[in-house]
This record gives sequence, C-alpha cells and structure tokens, in this order.
Amino acid sequence: MTDQLATLLSEQRRFPPPVGFAARALATEKLYRKAQADRLGFWEDEAKTLDWMAPWSRVLEWTSPHAKWFVGGKLNVSVNCLDRHLSGPRRNKAALIWEGEPGDRRTLTYWDLAREVNRAANALRTLGVKRGDRVAIYLPMIPEAAIAMLACARIGAVHSVVFGGFSAESLRDRINDAQAVALITADGGYRRGQVVPLKRFADEALVECPSVRHVMVVRRRPGADGDEAFAEMKEGRDHWWHRLLAAAGPEALPEAMDSEDLLFILYTSGTTGKPKGIVHTTGGYLTQAAATTKYVFDLRDEDVFWCTADIGWVTGHSYVVYGPLANGATVLMYEGAPDWPERDRFWTLVERYGVTVFYTAPTAIRAFMKWGTEHPARHNLSTLRLLGSVGEPINPEAWIWYHEQIGKGRCPIVDTWWQTETGGIMITPLPGVVTTKPGSATIPFPGVSAELVDAKGQRIEKGGGFLTLTEPWPGMLRTIYGDDERYRQTYWSRFPGRYFAGDGAKVDEDGYWWILGRVDDVLNVAGHRIGTMEVESALVDHPSVAEAAVVGKTHELKGQALAAFVTLKEGAKVTAALKDDLKEHVTKKIGAIARPDDIYFAADLPKTRSGKIMRRLLKDIAEGRALGDTTTLADPNVVAKLKDQYESEEG
Ligand code: WT7
Repeated sequence: MTDQLATLLSEQRRFPPPVGFAARALATEKLYRKAQADRLGFWEDEAKTLDWMAPWSRVLEWTSPHAKWFVGGKLNVSVNCLDRHLSGPRRNKAALIWEGEPGDRRTLTYWDLAREVNRAANALRTLGVKRGDRVAIYLPMIPEAAIAMLACARIGAVHSVVFGGFSAESLRDRINDAQAVALITADGGYRRGQVVPLKRFADEALVECPSVRHVMVVRRRPGADGDEAFAEMKEGRDHWWHRLLAAAGPEALPEAMDSEDLLFILYTSGTTGKPKGIVHTTGGYLTQAAATTKYVFDLRDEDVFWCTADIGWVTGHSYVVYGPLANGATVLMYEGAPDWPERDRFWTLVERYGVTVFYTAPTAIRAFMKWGTEHPARHNLSTLRLLGSVGEPINPEAWIWYHEQIGKGRCPIVDTWWQTETGGIMITPLPGVVTTKPGSATIPFPGVSAELVDAKGQRIEKGGGFLTLTEPWPGMLRTIYGDDERYRQTYWSRFPGRYFAGDGAKVDEDGYWWILGRVDDVLNVAGHRIGTMEVESALVDHPSVAEAAVVGKTHELKGQALAAFVTLKEGAKVTAALKDDLKEHVTKKIGAIARPDDIYFAADLPKTRSGKIMRRLLKDIAEGRALGDTTTLADPNVVAKLKDQYESEEG
C-alpha cells in the first residue's frame, strides 16, 4: 500500500453539513428514502421535470446489459435547455458568461443563446446535415462549443466532441469511427498566450476522413491577420461559421427525438489501443444530468455555476452544458489555463463574476496548493457557497486545503465519483444532507445501486474490493458505438450481471465509499483517462522502437504520470535526442496529455513464460520500490538488470 493510500484510509475527520446550508438545501434526506422505496418512481419524477413532446409508456425496459429508459417518450434536449426558459423571467437571464484567455468577454442570455443555437441548427441543415448524422466538434472553450452541441441536439444530429488538446491523428480516428459527415472547428484557441491552430490540425486529419463533407470554422481570432492566417479555407468544403449563421434564420424547428435516440458519442480510453465511442441517448441522459446538477450542486436561479472542465470531456457535457442549462442556471465558461497570465486567474474569475458554486479536479487543487495561498488570498471569494471535486481520488490533504483556503471553512465539498460511461454523477454527498469525510465520495446518489464485490464477484459489505453497479441508471451508456460485443465484454463480463466500473474501492463501517483508482490498464493522468496500450501503440509506431510498456508513476500534481519502458530495434542508438523524439512522437499521435514524463531504454522487458509483459514489476521499478514477486518470470535476470540500470540512471 502506498503512503498516500494509507493516509486516505486512516482519515477520521468528519464535516457535518453547515446548519445554514442544510436549512435551505434543495436535497433532503427524503430523496434517499423515496428512491429506496421506489427507484423507478424516483427517476420517473425527475424525468417529469423535463418537457416532453410525447409521454413514455414504460419507465425502464431492461434486457441486461441493454437498457431503454422512458420508452416511447419524445423530447428535444435543446428545447429543454433553452426554449422552456424563454417564456418566463429567465428569458433575459445570463445563460453563459464567458471569458477568453486573452481577457475578451461575452455574456449570452437564454434568449441570445437560443437565437444562436437556432441559427446554427439552420446552418447545419443548409449543409445537408440530417437527423441521425454524426457531427464532430473540435473547438476551444468558447460559447460556440455549447452552441454547436445544442444545435446538433436541435436537429437530431449526434455530436462527437473531440477535446481540442488531441492531435490530428486522434481527431481523424474518432471522425472515422463515427463516420462523421461534418466537422465544426475554429481557426484557433488560446492556451498560455499561444494560439492552438485547431483548423490546421483539422486539415491534417481530414486528408484521411472521406466521410466529412462540410467543415464549419468559427473565427476565434477576429481581425487577426485577416481571415486566412490560421485557416486556409478549402472551397466547397469549408465555411465560415459567422457567415453561415448570419445568413441563417433565428428560428429552427426542433426534432422530436425518441428517448432512446443517440444524443452523443464521446470517445474514452480503455484497455486496448482503440478508444471506445461511448454512446449516450436522449431522455435518460438528460434526466440524470438535470437531476444530479440540481441536487448535487444545489443550483438555483441566483447562482453562478463554474465547472472548470473542458467541453471535450464528459464533465463538460453534463455539467457545463446539459445539466446546468436544463436547470436554467447561469454558467461561467473560461477558455484558458489557470496560471495565465498569473497563478490567480481562477480566483480573479470567481471574484469578477461572483461565482457561487465551483467544480474542479484534484489535480488543479494540488497545483493551487503548490502555487501558494497568496493567490486565492488576494481575492474576495466570499460569494462561493459550495465546492465540488471530480476526476480522481482527492487526497485528504488537498481536500482540507480546498475546504480552508477556497471554501474558508464555510462551503460544503461534494466529491463526485462517476465516469464517461455513467453519463452523470453516481456516488456523491448531497450537500446539506450528508456528512462528509475528506477523501471519500460518500454514498450513492438516490436511485443508484452500487455494491462492493471481491475478486470472485461475491458481494462484500465493507473492506476493499471492486466497485460494481447492480441496477441500470438513466444516464448509463447504451453501448460502444459500432461494437456492442466490446460493450458486453468490457463492462458486463468480469462480474456477470453487474456493471464493472474498472475501479477499486473501499467501503467503511458507515457504508462510505473510498475510491482507490483504476485496477485495469487505464491510467488517470491529471484527471484524464489514458490507456497504457494506446501510448504503447504510439511508441511502437516509431521506426526505432521494437517494444514498449507503459506504466503509471505517482506524481505530485498529476496524480499519475506516464513512464515508458522501451526496447529498440537493431541498429537504433540510445540518445537523449531519441528520448525527446519519442515523447514528441506520442504527442503527435495522441496529444500532449499522453506525453510520457519518463522514457527508459531497456535491453529486454520482463515477461511471464507465456510472454505477457509484467507491468506490475515495471511499476515497482518506476516507483523505486522493492520488486514484488518475480517467480512467474521467464527470466528473473531481466528485471533485476533493469532495476539496477534504472537506479543508476536516476542517481
Ligand atoms: C474515472 C472516470 C466523470 C468525471 C471525469 C472523469 C476516476 C472520477 C472520481 C472521484 C475517485 C474518480 C475513476 C473513474 N474518478 N471521479 N470523485 N474519486 N476517482 O471521467 O475520464 O471517464 O474517468 O475517473 O477512476 O473510473 P473519465
């Protein structure tokens, strides 16, 4: 057990809900009782808070592992996020408050946002994009990202958002897997003062994407060296977003979508080299996104909600766009880095816009800790009333720092466990109701059934084991796009009849969940999921590399960092330049988030007699620990030599 884990599990502090918060919280203990007594009734009542165009006939149809929620019901997600707020006092309320990294600012009311979404929907229709078509979105964090998603939802097109930090090749593979007919991108985005040339990457990707007929290009950099500087427009294929929208009408009829029609595909890493297209549908997903946003973030009309996640991740889908807008909330969106131009940028934003609810990741909190308390201390953070954490286990030290330095001891913290696959939050405290313990995501959200099992799949009440979900939930993934067999295999085969999340966990004597992290070959680097196989495939694609094994290594800020062990082909020379070249190669193949921190050249990799690389031992080496059991190795000398070599290199 690592030291960090030991601290986590010996944590004894308790934080009961502040009395004032509890007195007016939207969530109550009754919700748990209600869902306990009638799980489907609980979800059905939440679905009823949405606007439906036709009612459902059954709440759930479950033929394991396939679920249909609100069967036969019809609705449109954009209507729920926009139109229904236009008839009342929310019409002129800020829906999106946006700030670009260079400091440019925009506020869109619900009315403004609806008009833009309608225009974008009409523009897509003009290009021939139809219901059911897939549209790839590759944008920086600008309002157009939300507008593009909602415009797809309005016309029934399925969006596939690709994080702007992914490389051209990653974009290409995702476009091709989904057979997207259109791409929405921008001339660039800002990151630490630099322009990220998204359109150039897109052009590179599109060379091998025959399905894409049209590209809409948002001009993020108006006036910057003329239109063409960062975007060479290809006649017939490429269209400026602003021109199409100017020519489009501000009203677009929404498609009446079936509850089970696809809303989006979002790619995430798994244990093979190929990312999985996680499929989410309409009615159930929106029900869970909306309900969790309301109860977990206690959102009300006067709040300014800031979820710092990028729209390219599921957190951005559910808690920047769909959940908050379905609730008619005001969302803050920020384009850039937290340390640009200074390390207090986030706190400047909190103060300037009066943010009340703030949701971020432990990796960011650890960076803030390291940068020092003087940065938040310079700002008035008194509007904050609730804090959230997501993406990885939060170490108690970071939790306490967050509580004291940002929440000033006043704000409850919700540590929310969920996944791209779950669509919405699954394990979390309800603020005002549940006493929190630093480092624990506490208990399942009402209507969610989680159970701990041992390696044999036997249910255990408490202790350490594997996190499984035993009943379908509305926001669950429906399948993996184009590969239902992989869906069954990945999630439902390890423990038959149960959804296996891939996480190890501990349940304590109070029934609280402590998520310990992934138990498969998936790493969590700065809150991002990266499959070791993906990085290995990228490395062996390099002409000098024969074999590669990638493992996670504890990292102070990122939680985990990537360490790669590489054997070279005959004739290739070990040089410092090659190391850099390999890192660059991975960045080019996948994106900067997958760039290994360390590369170790090895003469051989430790393998079992059946030829399986023993990652566990490589991890011991990377962490500088004593080697674990080596008896199953084909040649124990290989790993001993590697350890010696590694330690001498380190020293
Ligand atoms: C994995 C899912 C959906 C949120 C963004 C990440 C880890 C997520 C927590 C948490 C401990 C967490 C798990 C999970 N994780 N939230 N509160 N405590 N671990 O989405 O990329 O699909 O990753 O992130 O390991 O399986 P994702």
